Amino acid sequence: MILSIESSCDDSSIAITEIATRKLIYHKKISQEADHACYGGVVPELASRLHAVALPKLLGETKPWFDKLKAVAVTNQPGLGVTLLEGIAMAKTLAALQDIPLIPVHHLKGHIYSLFIEKPTRFPMLVLLISGGHTMVVRVESFEKMEILATSMDDSVGESFDKTAKMMDLGYPGGPIIEEMARQGDENRFDLPVPLRNSKLIAFSLSGLKNAVRLMIESLGGAEAMSRQDKRDLAASFQKAVKLHLLQKSKKIFKADPIKDFAIVGGASANLYIRSAYETLCDEFGKKLHVAPLQYCSDNAAMIGRYALDAYEQKRFIDPNEIDLVSTKKQQAGTLL
Ligand code: KG4
Ligand code: ZN
Repeated sequence: MILSIESSCDDSSIAITEIATRKLIYHKKISQEADHACYGGVVPELASRLHAVALPKLLGETKPWFDKLKAVAVTNQPGLGVTLLEGIAMAKTLAALQDIPLIPVHHLKGHIYSLFIEKPTRFPMLVLLISGGHTMVVRVESFEKMEILATSMDDSVGESFDKTAKMMDLGYPGGPIIEEMARQGDENRFDLPVPLRNSKLIAFSLSGLKNAVRLMIESLGGAEAMSRQDKRDLAASFQKAVKLHLLQKSKKIFKADPIKDFAIVGGASANLYIRSAYETLCDEFGKKLHVAPLQYCSDNAAMIGRYALDAYEQKRFIDPNEIDLVSTKKQQAGTLL
């Protein structure tokens, strides 16, 4: 079995995955969302302290399987430095105590592998990753070869939902709140710009849209002056503009790339409005859409453990003395490390 740890942002999570069957034997996560809500976003120092309490609690529950562990896997990049270190320190200690190898896991690759939890790996695939930290399209050829085809120039999809919710005083995290409000809103009421609509660039940008939302809120007299229905309509109009932006750029990629399998992963892939738009687009282009079960869209250790299964097979271990150094490396241009 492999024990996996995730602590890159505000979720403390541990999983145990059986190597031979890919079965998830144990999986739990303690989310800190409520603790950060009053700040309107994640406070790194607070997140790190909360991981220091939550991770040992979860680890204690996995004791019955300690003797069966063949490796320990941990997210080592990208993420918040101070929170990554909580997971890394625990993983290094466990690897030393049990005398088992350590597997470093790139968080974004973990999101890609959320598609394969308790399932076989399936490549090649085009993957749209929309999370709190990233927006990108990755051409996944194999475990080794993951090429970034398009990336974000500024705010990520999740971040833009969070900021839009914050500007309307709706709470944190903004993604699920905006999606829910939008369900009862008129998406055609506010004319918001679809980012990079007239640009040939295959890239994502949401800061201009965020600014347009801000100006719209101001023109309505500020968040306090807006009615509940104003907020629903603005949430819906914003969500529609994000969808149109993602679809427009994805279409360009679809036209150029014959790979039949397409997936959406990451926290914002839980958005059913965006999912359903992609179902239609994939039908149009003859592609098959893959998504992870909703509980594995946001950060979790099950996806880290699933990636670790393939890494274990290929003996992708790391010297415990090296792992902290790797985590400080930046993502290399054009590829996922
Ligand atoms: O993947 P994730 O858990 O963390 C990162 O790796 O960043 O993604 C969290 C992000 C948050 O910004 C959250 O607002 C967004 O995913 N999110 C959503 C939805 N559910 C979560 N965004 C849009 N619609 C949703 N339903
Ligand atoms: Zn994530």
